[in-house]
Amino acid sequence: MQREQRTFIAVKPDGVKRGLVGEIIKRFETKGYKLIGMKMLDVTPEMAEKHYGEHKGKPFYPRLIEYIQSGPIVAMVWKGFDVIAGSRQLMGSTKPLEAQVGTIRADFALVKEYNVVHGSDCEESAEREIAIYFTPEELCDEYENMAEIVIEKLDEE
Ligand code: RTP
Ligand code: MG
Repeated sequence: MQREQRTFIAVKPDGVKRGLVGEIIKRFETKGYKLIGMKMLDVTPEMAEKHYGEHKGKPFYPRLIEYIQSGPIVAMVWKGFDVIAGSRQLMGSTKPLEAQVGTIRADFALVKEYNVVHGSDCEESAEREIAIYFTPEELCDEYENMAEIVIEKLDEE
């Protein structure tokens, strides 16, 4: 299958506290992506710095590090055709006011500092982020997923 990718998605602490875990998962499931890893955890300072290292030195960095540790997150790995771009489409722009109506951030967030969800922005970040939060043994990629079965037909045509 072409462009089969994995991505790291997290419901951020504000999303967990606001009871949006199910709503956010539902959007990825109904889109047709395959859930291959999920856990709830408190992000440690080390994890936060690794995850957001690319933003170190930016004015919003200290607040971002504090925010991601302000409560538990729900960390997930999703797999599928073009899942990196597709999940960023589902999430919408960083700034909720610039996000299209119907996206998670447009529908559930008011400001960029509390935008309820994270998603990797390229394959390299995805693999780096997955390794921060999951060991390979924690991922369950062996089962058959309906969406995967349907899209595999593309290669047969
Ligand atoms: P994310 O990494 O969380 O999925 O978000 P993103 O790619 O849309 O945005 P990014 O530029 O990677 O920023 C990471 C998170 O930092 C918070 N923040 N950004 N740009 C800003 O002025 C700013 N201020 C705060 C947001 O929570 C953003 O999602
Ligand atoms: Mg980002």
